[in-house]
Amino acid sequence: MPPEPAPTSALSRRTFIAATTAAAGGVAAGSLVGAVPAAVGAEAAEAGTSRQISLIVNGKRHTLTVDNRTSLLDLLREHLGLLGTKKGCDAGACGACTVLVDGRRINGCLTLAVRLEGAEVITIEGLAVGENLHPLQEAFVEQDAFQCGYCTPGQIMSGVGCIREGHTRSPEEIREWMSGNICRCGCYVKIVKAVQQAAHGE
Ligand code: FES
Ligand code: FES
Repeated sequence: MPPEPAPTSALSRRTFIAATTAAAGGVAAGSLVGAVPAAVGAEAAEAGTSRQISLIVNGKRHTLTVDNRTSLLDLLREHLGLLGTKKGCDAGACGACTVLVDGRRINGCLTLAVRLEGAEVITIEGLAVGENLHPLQEAFVEQDAFQCGYCTPGQIMSGVGCIREGHTRSPEEIREWMSGNICRCGCYVKIVKAVQQAAHGE
């Protein structure tokens, strides 16, 4: 993405930021929904801008009232305290927020929570069984498929989806079907090996 153009002439940087922030207020409010104070949440409920939903996350049912604009990512992180699912771009471009919904991998940042009534969500916290890591988690450790680890939960959830979908017949196919998950540390070769290992024991 090309860099933002610099603020023009008479506008100082501070004035420019204040002006654009005010103009983007509606959008900003949506992306900060997880931080909306309780009083504001109550107002939203009265105004009909929030809704009660009930969904299952990692095998546990949760019933809660959320602002209509709340993303699944914010619901997981801000409402349920499940911080394993990461917020990278918050715009569908990096895959850090990948989780499984009814068995399918999706970007949590692009999914409205209120559309998930009755859905079953699995996050990175729900993958291991007790002390036993999921085979793909084990493979990530064995292949040393991460550096900073920020993208890793999303990579693993996407890898689980990729394996379930059967898109693991070659390294090229894995790369293609994992291409929505960005790793700024550049661990792609090892990530592909980890998915291969979990899929085929290679
Ligand atoms: Fe959702 Fe980047 S945080 S795709
Ligand atoms: Fe650092 Fe992927 S391990 S971004």
